[in-house]
Amino acid sequence: MTLSMAGSSTFWLLVLVGMFFIFLLGRLILNQYSPLFLRVGPTTPKGSFGWPVLGETLAFLNPHPSNSLGAFLQHHCSRYGKVFKSHLFLSPTIVSCDEELNYFILQNEGKLFECSYPKPIHGILGKSSLLVAVGDTHKRLRNVAVSLVTITKSKPEFLHDIENTAVRVLRSWKDKPQVIFCKEARKFTFNVIVKQVLGLSPDEPQTTQILEDFLTFMKGLISLPLYIPGTPYARAVKARIRISSTVKAIIEERRRRRTRRNEDGISTNKSSSSNSDFLEILLDVDTLSEDEKVSFVLDSLLGGYETTSLLMAMVVYFLAQSPSALQQLKVEHQNIRRVKKKDEYLNWEDYSKMEFTQNVINEAMRCGNIVKFVHRKALKDVKFRDYKIPSGWKVLPVISASHLDPSLHANALEFHPWRWESEDQMCKRFTPFGGGSRCCPGSELGRLEVAFFLHHLVQNFRWRTEDDEQPIAYPYVEFKRGLPLYLEDCPI
Ligand code: HEM
Repeated sequence: MTLSMAGSSTFWLLVLVGMFFIFLLGRLILNQYSPLFLRVGPTTPKGSFGWPVLGETLAFLNPHPSNSLGAFLQHHCSRYGKVFKSHLFLSPTIVSCDEELNYFILQNEGKLFECSYPKPIHGILGKSSLLVAVGDTHKRLRNVAVSLVTITKSKPEFLHDIENTAVRVLRSWKDKPQVIFCKEARKFTFNVIVKQVLGLSPDEPQTTQILEDFLTFMKGLISLPLYIPGTPYARAVKARIRISSTVKAIIEERRRRRTRRNEDGISTNKSSSSNSDFLEILLDVDTLSEDEKVSFVLDSLLGGYETTSLLMAMVVYFLAQSPSALQQLKVEHQNIRRVKKKDEYLNWEDYSKMEFTQNVINEAMRCGNIVKFVHRKALKDVKFRDYKIPSGWKVLPVISASHLDPSLHANALEFHPWRWESEDQMCKRFTPFGGGSRCCPGSELGRLEVAFFLHHLVQNFRWRTEDDEQPIAYPYVEFKRGLPLYLEDCPI
């Protein structure tokens, strides 16, 4: 009797355990193969993984005009929706073209997601770079970056340097019928940032040396990551080592100069011609190691050079197609100049009057999309709406997608700076500088440089671009021929 009772309860126990396993298996299958079945709980978004290993990376990187989404995103969004799964950069990936999810990702840096640039980029930038550092190291480096920019941005010496550099570049255009604008813009931004960070002027030999190494370094960043002698990648790693030693030598020289001054009893603040550059302030920062200071200099050069010169190119490109915007811009700058003495420098107050200029800059960033997407990874399983983003997967918030979304911006493909008179630029629909705790610390410097350059450009020149020249996302944005400008002088 007891035996048969024990036998029957074992039987029922086995049935229960069996049912439990069938239930678990069912859930697994439902989650895996939805939407064939009814969905149970959040699931990974729809999408396709493409080829083994490479996945869909090549199609994702296929060049397209940067004022469009590109065939890959267009096709995937219309087939799977604004959030889809794929296999990119050797990892299963969630791609988001949804402004709410992008905002959620950027705001949850360090909690649910983390910055995750491909490994070869770490190889070139070094582990102390702000762009790749995470956690407490990132916080420490970032605090220094933000306070340096805050201290510097409105200093008269800094503003004068930007203006002098702009005037020098534009003077060299006199009597030239044509210039390659991207080259000129890079010359401008490099000279501004190298002066700002290291206190070097364009004609110093160290500036030429740094520029040469820096260009090699930049080529490596966008090359195939093969560490074989002679490849652009290997040359970039070496160029970084050379820039590091040049910067270290400059730091040493500054220290020696300070010691000499202290010995002579001269106050550093009053006598140094370079007392407002980043390096001078960095020397006193004791929360950064020597290598971190060098990395900081490199980050500033990297951040301040290519993106800002591209922004200038975008503005000039779109203005060439919008005579009415150019005319309004010209009037704004003439009005600012009218109340100043001849050759008087622009100041922070003048900058704050450049309202239409800011609208033009915003619109050029919205249409031109200098940064198409940023790299993140999920630190744990994340649920967002009905989606599950699995832990460890790559996550790519595509920031250009919401810029070009017609449901978020009326006539989204049209360059229309006046929209910013009523649209809020601090919104989820417009994030050219990223967001959250990794939002670009140089955004105001970039805007300032472009605004001051435009002040002199629009009052002195008219220009035309070639019909078939346009910004292409490779995904790093470039103008195929470097944006040739056909110039006409137009003195005030
Ligand atoms: C004007 C055009 C610029 C654009 C469109 C731009 C865009 C961006 C974006 C989208 C990010 C976020 C990257 C991410 O979330 O992974 C970023 C970060 C960064 N930018 Fe910029 N940037 C510009 C100018 C500058 C300038 C002038 C500097 C420096 C002087 C700079 C330095 C940096 C640095 C150091 C970071 C890393 C911040 C961090 O990870 O905490 N950028 N930028």
